[in-house]
Amino acid sequence: MKPHPVFAFLYDRLARAAEPWEGQFREELCGPAAGMVLEIGAGTAANLRHYRFAARLVAAEPEPNMRRRARARLSEARVPVALVAAEAERLPFADRTFDTVVFSLTLCSVQDLRRAISECARVLCPGGSLRFYEHVRSDRAGIARWQDRMEGPWGFFAGGCHPNRDTPGALAAHGFEVRLRRFQPPVPGGSLMPHVIGEARLPAPHALDASPGRSQP
Ligand SMILES: C[S@@+](CC[C@H](N)C(=O)[O-])C[C@H]1O[C@@H](n2cnc3c(N)ncnc32)[C@H](O)[C@@H]1O
Repeated sequence: MKPHPVFAFLYDRLARAAEPWEGQFREELCGPAAGMVLEIGAGTAANLRHYRFAARLVAAEPEPNMRRRARARLSEARVPVALVAAEAERLPFADRTFDTVVFSLTLCSVQDLRRAISECARVLCPGGSLRFYEHVRSDRAGIARWQDRMEGPWGFFAGGCHPNRDTPGALAAHGFEVRLRRFQPPVPGGSLMPHVIGEARLPAPHALDASPGRSQP
């Protein structure tokens, strides 16, 4: 991944400034994350202090400047944590390694959304939980069109972010059962950048096997 020192600096500032309203969502996202936890695209580690129950947290971040800033915050962690260089599309972990995978404002930025979701499904244990906090494509047609027009310039200034992704739709298309809440962030222009917070799980294999018309092995 190409280094983005200026974006890492600005993003860190913005994330710290947003903490008064965003902290509650980071808490809701990470607070319940339990067992072996993988956060993908951990950025400058804005979520770190919100993890309470993880037996072990692996924070994966491919961008070196983000990672350097994250490393400086590792002492804030209340759980054992390892910071690693890794991309969502190529996770260096064995199948079924994690109980929980966390995405926080990251699925908007990955290069290949489908591959990132597929890798996440691979490393999750059966019954594991994918927890997400993301900004997504608006369900209002006019705003979605505006997001489509903004995709190029926005991505240029915002580290390759795509403001118009239907991330919940992509999770559902992969077979995840998705539960989420939509909200507008309480900032100027918040309606242009709708957010979702929620959880997704893959149905248990035996539930699939028992479905009508499905042949047994
Ligand atoms: C908007 S920042 C969010 C950072 C952090 N998760 C947070 O909530 O503050 C997006 C992050 O995704 C990372 N990212 C971009 N492409 C990625 C990829 N293919 N795999 C993993 N992380 C990626 C970026 O380096 C950046 O740290």
